[in-house]
Amino acid sequence: MGVLPDSIDYVLLDEPAIARRVAALAAQISADYRGIRNEDFTLVGVLKGSFIFLADLARRLEVPHRVDFIALSSYAEKAEATGSVRLIMDTRADMAGRHILIVEDILDTGYTLDYLQRLFMARQPASLKSCVLLSKPERRRVDVKVDYLGFEIPDVWVVGYGLDFADRFRTLPYIAALKPRVYRK
Ligand code: XMP
Ligand code: MG
Repeated sequence: MGVLPDSIDYVLLDEPAIARRVAALAAQISADYRGIRNEDFTLVGVLKGSFIFLADLARRLEVPHRVDFIALSSYAEKAEATGSVRLIMDTRADMAGRHILIVEDILDTGYTLDYLQRLFMARQPASLKSCVLLSKPERRRVDVKVDYLGFEIPDVWVVGYGLDFADRFRTLPYIAALKPRVYRK
């Protein structure tokens, strides 16, 4: 792993641990969607945080699928207090009658996933499920349904494997906790 960047406190999940869990999630999803046709199954990645997780998960799926993306407002104090989520870029493909799997990096208060589930349900998909890599159960404010979960983690700010702090550390190959002095201003 080499020398950790100065702002990193400790590594929470190293590359092999992430790879094993992603493979297990892909196997479970492949089994659940067995027999599906490419045009009927779409993974919707939530930008930017999910892009690495989605790339690894998708390449391990043994069922045909399409990939689409949606971008939402980044984490903000205001969003935390009010639960308001802003849509930055919508998906391209029509969802009606298709099986949709939301792929998200991390579940914190739950407002983002709750917003997405409401938005997508209104588009009348054949089914709607969600696959989330990380969850901080202590932080939950709304009750949301997660069908596939990678790991439960403590309430610390994590970076790497797609996750960032002010757009830094996003492409670290592991998931690490940031030193509290970096994110607690
Ligand atoms: P909610 O509160 O809506 O938040 O469930 C989900 C979004 O909050 C961001 N988030 C994090 N991003 N490290 C990050 O890089 C973290 O520890 C973290 N906690 C929450 C993230 O954008 C997620 O989609
Ligand atoms: Mg995110």
